[in-house]
Amino acid sequence: MDYKSLFSAQTIGMRASMIRELVATTKCIPGLISFAGGFPSPLTFPREILAKMYSEVILENGNDILQYGSSDGDTILKQELKKWEGMPDLPDSEILITSGATNGIYLYVKSLIESNDVIIIEAPSFLGSLIAFEGMSAKLVGIELDEEGIRTDLLEESFKKHGKKIKFLYLIPEFQNPSGITMTTARRKQVLEIASHYGVPILEDVPYEALRYSGEKPDSLYKMSKDSHPGLVTLIKSFSKILGPGLRLAYAIGHKELITKMGLWMQKVNVSVDCVTQRAVARMMSKGLLKPHIESIQAFYKPLRDTMLAALEKYMPETVSWTVPDGGMFIWVFLPEQLNADELFVSARENRVAFIPGSKFYPLGSETYNALRLNFSYPTAEQINTGVERLAHIIKEASGK
Ligand SMILES: Cc1ncc(COP(=O)(O)O)c(C=O)c1O
Repeated sequence: MDYKSLFSAQTIGMRASMIRELVATTKCIPGLISFAGGFPSPLTFPREILAKMYSEVILENGNDILQYGSSDGDTILKQELKKWEGMPDLPDSEILITSGATNGIYLYVKSLIESNDVIIIEAPSFLGSLIAFEGMSAKLVGIELDEEGIRTDLLEESFKKHGKKIKFLYLIPEFQNPSGITMTTARRKQVLEIASHYGVPILEDVPYEALRYSGEKPDSLYKMSKDSHPGLVTLIKSFSKILGPGLRLAYAIGHKELITKMGLWMQKVNVSVDCVTQRAVARMMSKGLLKPHIESIQAFYKPLRDTMLAALEKYMPETVSWTVPDGGMFIWVFLPEQLNADELFVSARENRVAFIPGSKFYPLGSETYNALRLNFSYPTAEQINTGVERLAHIIKEASGK
């Protein structure tokens, strides 16, 4: 059968994750230290707690939760989420349970996007979302970040330039992937002012929010705007980085009309999210076990972040700088202008250390080459120290020092 002639234009236009391909090229190298992945450490997965919760809910509620479930999500989980979010009065119709944030983002995009619509994104941004957006034939416009988050001067220019073609603004304001930057409260206010003025909705994706190791938590864009501009922001939160990405559990909170349409796509595409997982996590929350678990993960990751920051300080030449994230899993490293991280990746791999070149986080055609992303959630502290030393050596060599 020749499928090539049958594939839809959208399928043909879809690109695979270059990050997965790059990570695969580092897999079989003995002694290689990888800062390339974006995985949470399996040492943080609450295996015993989840085993107990799954067993209890299957034995007690099996007849119900092994059956087809509601496309909008389990009402018992929604009850727990409302308590967790401090929004007891939030109507169920404004929450949709999704199969990971990826699924929520897909349903949002599917509900809004037509070919050639413009989506404004941070540049750099999360490659998985960029691929999903491009897969819908949307046009991506990247807006530069500074240390406070997305640059609002450039954002407003872009809103003026693209006008009605813009469908939404995609933001990762907390410990951004890949830059590690958290948007300041002042910048959030400006973003909301501009977005509401131009009538552009915001998709706020915060899968790392619970992984805070220092600093004060700013209010979410959703929270800041829910009374003044109800429905402007749709918030997507995931359990992937706190319980395990294999659970595929997340939720979206937003305008009732939009959530209803996303629920209709859910009905068609997924039928529902895994009902057993929804109830097991609801039980973990109702027993008060989520908060202490998150505290234990924060205590696990903080020393890894601190070790990486200390190693960068110790080994990197003065021409290199980096972001200092208050949480999450990533540090963004700025190289001297003349260095190309795509080229550096090859020599780094030969020297048994891997990272993701910064160019992979930009829309096609607008790449920046003198930056790279380091992950600190997966390697051990010892590997971090040795790996950063190796990387610094390669950067010094490439700089001719
Ligand atoms: C910014 C961002 N959004 C979404 C996701 C995907 O999350 P999930 O596993 O919930 O689909 C990731 C995963 O790395 C991410 O970094």
